[in-house]
Amino acid sequence: MFTPINQDHILFFIHTLGEDAVKTNEVDRVDYGHDHTEDLSFPPEVVLLPRSTKEVSLVLAYCYEHEICVTPIGARTGLSGGALSIYGGVGLCLERMNKILKIDEDNQQVITQPGVITQVLQEAVAEKGLFYAPDPASRGTCFIGGNLAENSGGPRAVKYGVTKDFVLNLEVVLPGGEIIHTGANTLKNSTGYNLTQLMVGSEGTLGVITAATLKLLPLPKKNMLMLVSFKSAEDACEAVSTIFKAGLTPSALEFMERDAVLLAQEFTGEVPFPLADDCAAQLLIEMDGNDEERIMTDCEAVMLALENFDTDEIYFADSEAQKEKLWFLRRRVGEAVKAHSVYKEEDTVVPRFELPRLLKGVKRIGGEYGFSSICYGHAGDGNLHVNILKGDLSEAQWKDDLPEAISKIFELCVALGGTLSGEHGIGLVQKEYMPIAFTQVQLNLMKAIKKTFDSKGILNPGKLFPE
Ligand code: LAC
Ligand code: ZN
Repeated sequence: MFTPINQDHILFFIHTLGEDAVKTNEVDRVDYGHDHTEDLSFPPEVVLLPRSTKEVSLVLAYCYEHEICVTPIGARTGLSGGALSIYGGVGLCLERMNKILKIDEDNQQVITQPGVITQVLQEAVAEKGLFYAPDPASRGTCFIGGNLAENSGGPRAVKYGVTKDFVLNLEVVLPGGEIIHTGANTLKNSTGYNLTQLMVGSEGTLGVITAATLKLLPLPKKNMLMLVSFKSAEDACEAVSTIFKAGLTPSALEFMERDAVLLAQEFTGEVPFPLADDCAAQLLIEMDGNDEERIMTDCEAVMLALENFDTDEIYFADSEAQKEKLWFLRRRVGEAVKAHSVYKEEDTVVPRFELPRLLKGVKRIGGEYGFSSICYGHAGDGNLHVNILKGDLSEAQWKDDLPEAISKIFELCVALGGTLSGEHGIGLVQKEYMPIAFTQVQLNLMKAIKKTFDSKGILNPGKLFPE
C-alpha cells in the first residue's frame, strides 16, 4: 500500500541529506529495525539521519508526495514497539539532532533537540541548579524525543509528573513537511486547542518533533532513600496509598516483587542490602527537598504510617554510593528479566488505592492461564509493570492463549478505573487491546485526528489503532 523505496528515492535522499546520512546496508537497517520490545525486528528499507528541522521537512514533504511511509526513530529503548518500521519504508532517526539549544535560566526553561539523551539534559541543567524530573529507567540511553513521543515517566513522576507535565511548546514537522510550533514558551496557555499536549504521547503518528521547550524546576538539594521489606506483596501495595493518605509525597515510591529483586541482584552483581528469606516484596521510598531535618521528619512519618504493616527491618541508604547502588539495581530490573527469559511486558496502571486488587488479579489470571509473572514498578502512580514469563508455556499457549490472558489483565485494569499503559505507550504490541479501554466513538475521534494531520497515513503506520 506504500511505495517501495527505489533508486530514484535514494538519490533524492543522498542529494538532500548527504551520502553519510543515508544507510541502505543490511547491518544498519537491522540495527535501526528493533527497539527493546521483545525480540521484534522490522528493518526499514532505508535509514535516514537528518541534521536539521529543514532536512526533516524536505524528507517528509517528499515521502508524503510519493506515499512512502516514514517511521520516526529515537534511541530504540521503547517497550511497545512504537519505533519499529513494520511496513519498511524510511526509518527516520533523529540521533544527529542532539543539541541542547538553550538553557534559559531566567525563565527556568530549556530548548532542546529530540536526539539529546535524557540524562545528558538532566545533568546539563543540574549544573545550573535546575531540575528536569522525568527519569525513565533507560535515562542513560533514551532520547528526549522518544520520551515526548511516548509520554515517558519514571520513578520521580509520582511527585513531579511525567514528560507531558514539563512540555511547554514543540516544534513539529507535519507529515506534509510544514513546520509548526504547537504553543508558546509560557507556563500558562489558554489559547485554542492544546496541540502541544496532543503531540505528547502521540507516538510519532501525527508529526515529527524537532525541538521542545521544557519547563525546569529548582534542583532539590537533598534526599533520603529507604528500603522496606514486606512479608506479603499485596500488603506492600496496600501500604502505598497509606503513605499518601498520611499527607506525605515521596519523590519516588517503587515496588519490586521478590523475584524482581533477585533477578536484578543476579544481573547486576549488586546486593546493597540483604534480602530476608520471608520477604515477598519491597518498597523503595525516596523523600526529597532542601532541608535535611524536614526530610528526616518525613521519613519518620513514613515509618509511622507503615507501623501496622508486617515489615522487616527498614534500611536507609547511608551514602550517595549506596543510593546509587539501589537505584542501579531498580533501574536494571527490566533488563534482568529480559536476560532471564522470553517475556512480554504489560505497563498496567490503576488509581493508586486499587494496586493491591490489580496485583492479586494479575496473579489469579496467571494461575488460570499457567504463566508466572514478575511485577515491579512505580507503585506511587499505581503503575505496575507486569512481566509475563514464557517459562514452560508451549508456543501455542504463548501465541494463542496469552492474548486472551492479557485481555483479562487489561479488562481488570479498566474495571478498577485504570487503563492499558502508564508510560510505555501502545505502539505495535498493545494496539489490539485498545477497544478494551475505548469505545468505537472514542477510537473514531482519535482516527479522525490522525487523518487531519496525516491524510495519507504515511507517518508511523500500523501503530496505536487495532487492525
Ligand atoms: C522501568 C521501565 C521498564 O520502570 O519502565 O524499569
Ligand atoms: Zn517504568
